[in-house]
Formats: sequence, C-alpha cells, structure tokens
Amino acid sequence: MLLTKDATLPLRAPDPAFRRDILEGLSREPKATPPIWFYDRRGSELFEAITDLPEYYPTRTETALLEKYGADFAAMVGPGRAVVEFGAGSARKTPHLLRAIDPAAYVPIDISGEFLHASSAELASTFPGLPVLPVVGDFNRDPSLPTAVEGLPRLGFFPGSTIGNMEPEAAVDLLRAMHRLLGEGSMLLIGMDRIKDRDRLIAAYDDAAGVTAAFNLNLIARINRELEGDMPLDGFAHRARWNDEKARIEMHLEAVRPLHFHVAGQCFRMATGETIHTESSHKYGTRDERLLLRAGGWEPLREWTDADGLFSLILAEA
Ligand code: AVJ
Repeated sequence: MLLTKDATLPLRAPDPAFRRDILEGLSREPKATPPIWFYDRRGSELFEAITDLPEYYPTRTETALLEKYGADFAAMVGPGRAVVEFGAGSARKTPHLLRAIDPAAYVPIDISGEFLHASSAELASTFPGLPVLPVVGDFNRDPSLPTAVEGLPRLGFFPGSTIGNMEPEAAVDLLRAMHRLLGEGSMLLIGMDRIKDRDRLIAAYDDAAGVTAAFNLNLIARINRELEGDMPLDGFAHRARWNDEKARIEMHLEAVRPLHFHVAGQCFRMATGETIHTESSHKYGTRDERLLLRAGGWEPLREWTDADGLFSLILAEA
C-alpha cells in the first residue's frame, strides 16, 4: 500500500482484475459488470447499511433462522468441524452458528482483506480458544485451506443468498468448487432467497432512503477513482427490475442523458436509457433450491424457513 504525504489517504495501485473486468464489461453489448467490484471499503459499508434497512428482509430473516435453530444445526452437524465461510465480509451472522455447533476452527474467506482481518479479530476475541484462520482470496478462484484444518471434517457456510448473484452455470461451478475444496463427507449450510411478491422484491433493492442506489452508484465513484475515469455521477440513475423470465432482481445504472466518458484511457458512449447491468440476484422456488444444490454435487438434508417463507437455510451433504 502506498501512503500519501499526510499518511491518511491510502492510494492503492489499480487492481488489474478490476481494470480488466470493468473495461470488458463496458465494452460488452449490453454493458454488464461483475458485482464483486461493489465491495470496496465504502461499498462494504453501504452493504452493511442495506442489511439494516426495513425493506431489506434477507439479512434479518436469515439471522433469525440462525438464532432459532441452533440446536437443530448442532444435532445434524456435530462438534469438531472446521467451519469455512465463503465471502465472510463482516461475518455478523457467524457467531450464532459458531455458538451453536462447537466447531474446531473457523476459516473465513473474503476478497476484502481489510474487512476480513477486522472481523476475524473481533470473532477471535468472542470465541477464545477457537482457531480463526482468515484466507484473503476470491472463493470463485479455487483458494486453498490453511494446513491447520487438514484432516478436520468441514462445514461450508455460505449465507446471504450470495449464490443468487451468480448465473446458474456459475453457481453450479462454484458449488462444485466448494465440494472439491471441502471434500467428501463435508456439509454445506447455505442461505437462499425465495421467490416472492414482486413489489416486496423490488422494494428490497430500491429502498426509500436511497441506500441501495448509493451502493450501486458507488461503483462509478470507484471506477473514477481507481481507473482514472470521468463517468458523470449525475449522469446515472439506480434501477432495480424484476426479471420474471429468469426469476431475478437486476440492478442497473441507467444513463439519464447521452453520455460520453473515459475509463483507463478508453472512450465509451451511452444513449439515454441505456444501462450498465451491475448485479443479478436470483430468487428460488423450493424445488429450484434443491435442484441447484444437487446439480452442484450437494444432497439437501434439511431446510429451515421463516413463517412467511421469505428465506431458506439449507443443510446439504457432499
Ligand atoms: C447479499 C450479495 C446477495 O443480492 O441481495 C443487496 C447484495 N445488492 N442489495 C443481494 C445486494 C443490493 C446481496 N447479496
């Protein structure tokens, strides 16, 4: 990390993967960028704020399931597992699971090292005696587990319906990669968001306070800052759409006027109404959930859901 003279503003060298993904995504027709790039420091903070919004039901619903069904998890999973969390972020849901099942180690994997190390330190102090072994990396790109968990039975933990951000083909690839990483006999506890009333879904991705809009627009600020961009922030509007055909919420950044801008020395144009598709969040019917898991090499064992059937936690076996 490079530091400026007053040592308060860290200036990172541009991430070559970020540059490649954004240039590729803006050159595509229609334009589309991968959602992993939302999560710089500001983006991670905005996501945390989203999880507290009244409209954003997934986090509180899933957390309530984790709190309520601890005894079930303990009975089905048993003690002594290495819990491997994919995309741990701030890992606010994790303590509920760790408290319930008496694990042998905790391995959070996340691409944002800054966030990961802060939350790992906090978790380690909440669970003295539990080895906390963070891995900085992209769980889509085959990370390796710390040698300290070799030989331990594993439980993968993939909450938040993050799987829903992937196209079905990529979701299956990821589930298979998790299977390879965790091994035979391992288990996976995964959160999946259910198909529900369209207005409720849209509200969750287009909240009244505009936090999700700020989260989406932050991508433009990040591109401008890290990739020498001059995208006009006021040239874009946040859009959340339900794509019924594909059973997913899509977030877009829509050009509100004809735009001409530059990113990393390349020139781009957008017509009024043209969008950059920045995220898809797939929603699942009860059978869809199970079919997806089985396609990825995981046999569902049990499912927990809330009274309104908004969100599911599924335990599956490799
Ligand atoms: C938790 C990453 C799955 O798609 O609901 C929240 C991200 N995007 N609001 C989701 C998100 C807009 C979230 N994931």
